[in-house]
Amino acid sequence: MSIDWSNFGGPGLAFGGDYNPEQWDRDIWPHDIELMRDAGVTFVSLAIFGWATVQPSPDRWCFDWLDEIMDLLAGGGIAVALATATASPPPWFSHAHPETLPCDADMVRRWPGSRQAWCPSSEVFKRAATTLVEHLAERYASHPALAMWHVSNEYGCHNSPCFCDVCADHFRAWLERRYGAIGRLNDAWGTNFWSQRYNEFAEILPPRRTPAQANPTQLLDYRRFCSDALLDQYLAELAVLRRLTPGIPVTTNYITVDFYRTVDYKRWTSHQDLVSTDHYAMVRSDPDAELSFGADLARGLARGGPWLLMEHATSAVNWQHVNPSKAPGEMLRHSIANVARGADGVGFFQWRASRAGAEKYHSAMVPHAGTDSRVWREVTELGAIMKRLGELRGSRVVAEVAMVWDYEAGWACDQDSHPSSLVRYGDDAHHIHAGLRSLGVTVDVVPPDTDLTAYRLVVVPTLYLAADQTVANVYEAAHAGVDVVVTFFSGITDENDHIRLGGYPGAFRELLGIRVEEFCPLLDGELVELVGPGGDPAGTATVWTEDLTCVDADPILTYKNGPVAGRAAATRRETATGRTWYLGTRLDSDTLRRLLASICDQAGVRSDANHPVGLEVVRRSNATSSWLFVINHANAEAHLPDLRGWDLISDTAVAGLTLEGGAVAVVRESGTNP
Ligand code: GLA
Ligand code: ZN
Repeated sequence: MSIDWSNFGGPGLAFGGDYNPEQWDRDIWPHDIELMRDAGVTFVSLAIFGWATVQPSPDRWCFDWLDEIMDLLAGGGIAVALATATASPPPWFSHAHPETLPCDADMVRRWPGSRQAWCPSSEVFKRAATTLVEHLAERYASHPALAMWHVSNEYGCHNSPCFCDVCADHFRAWLERRYGAIGRLNDAWGTNFWSQRYNEFAEILPPRRTPAQANPTQLLDYRRFCSDALLDQYLAELAVLRRLTPGIPVTTNYITVDFYRTVDYKRWTSHQDLVSTDHYAMVRSDPDAELSFGADLARGLARGGPWLLMEHATSAVNWQHVNPSKAPGEMLRHSIANVARGADGVGFFQWRASRAGAEKYHSAMVPHAGTDSRVWREVTELGAIMKRLGELRGSRVVAEVAMVWDYEAGWACDQDSHPSSLVRYGDDAHHIHAGLRSLGVTVDVVPPDTDLTAYRLVVVPTLYLAADQTVANVYEAAHAGVDVVVTFFSGITDENDHIRLGGYPGAFRELLGIRVEEFCPLLDGELVELVGPGGDPAGTATVWTEDLTCVDADPILTYKNGPVAGRAAATRRETATGRTWYLGTRLDSDTLRRLLASICDQAGVRSDANHPVGLEVVRRSNATSSWLFVINHANAEAHLPDLRGWDLISDTAVAGLTLEGGAVAVVRESGTNP
């Protein structure tokens, strides 16, 4: 089902947030609606944690409050992404069904009193949840405010993996479906190691806490199973919604930031009418770059189509060690950066900052200070801008580079007992993504089954576990003339996490023309120097080195010192159809940037070696127009002297753009005055 955005409350891009009116007295609600209208809010995500209020006890249903608020919202012209309210069961449910509480790896229950305290495999929970969905769907099927269903909330954020006995049973059934016979499981899990052979599926348990390391393939399969268990819960709710409200689109909000990798979203997207996601940056070296990565991943999961930023923060979050507020203008930049990267709507957690509860120090659209506040003024400013950006609806982001992102590879990569725990899935992906971003290059971060043949360049970062199909997909792109960059610790194992023998990186040896005999990881903080082909100094590297031989490739960077002095650190192979590159270490940012500029140049990817630091430039286009997003995260002025068009942010003509520090522009390049 394609999304009809005109149902989202106006001609602009969708703008809104999570609305939890049950936390407030009723007399505030009409005022909320007025304020929403003032702010240009077009949609709210309603009743995400409303289960206890809708169904206060097993046989009591209370819809009066939801009726009232739905009517008020409809009256205010505000569309509702109505939650199925199943994210968190009420205490009466957990009390009556303690077996539905999730268990940790020590088989200790997670108790109620917080949220998401339900076992992903629980049929008891599923029945209760689908009953709730039935009631909601029947009641609001034809309510004028209903624009979309928001199923549950951030699946698996707190309750997965669960190791309980129900999960154990379901895991065994899942394994029987996957392997058919116990012998095949034994082969896949390599159970001749450490006397782990199973005679029957009944002997198998989830990977609960063990005396020493657990079986790696058991761990991997458990993650696959846990993701599927959550997907089953989603599909059960979806089935009710499809039956009762076939015309209403359905979404569930993903989390496309790197610290969250509980579910394999590539298997979820075909069940969404719209990919929606939540972005919260961690305090790291470059949160702006991190947000861009998350947005590019959301678009990749949406297969290039539009997506919705369901939640981000107007200012501080409340769940980090220290929670910095956003600087003036930062929220606008983050919001527009998401739109630049394909979002057709932007929402926040949450509308009104809570007075009570665990998230009372989380920022919101209406802060504790009320409307006489900077945050509120910035929210209303953003609302007005979103209204002006309506013409962007449905346009697509222009990207010549793809980066392969695979949750399964990440699950396998980040297990323990590996050569170096400093190698974490995602680190190289972020490093290279940030390098390309700093050259003004836009990257589609895509699932491994994406058709890669139309790109100019494909990056394969730390694809440690490389399934046969993924490997074939990368080779196909190379054969089609796409240049390919592979980074270290890629192509090492197959889908069972068994080593691909004969020299690393087994899956990509031939493609790259290299052979690695041994890994020689660096210690934390250890740094090695690099030289170029003429012996000239060429930067530094950390984390990883390896004993690499160029079989059919040329060294482009060589270690000057360290465990493998004299060996190649980065290589290039000229093929019949293009080039393949291998980065065998973590290059320092400047060296990486220089190398990426050269790689882009040779691949025919437009990049700008003089791209100013902190400037984010992304293009969206459709059949008739294109728009250049220019986001200045830096303090210094940015100049784009050749840019011509109409800036939708300032509503003025552009004939050469000068953008002050912190400012944004969205320039329609093809026209002038609307
Ligand atoms: C997630 C949840 C919200 C809220 C925010 C806080 O995105 O979906 O309910 O907890 O985090 O950052
Ligand atoms: Zn369980």
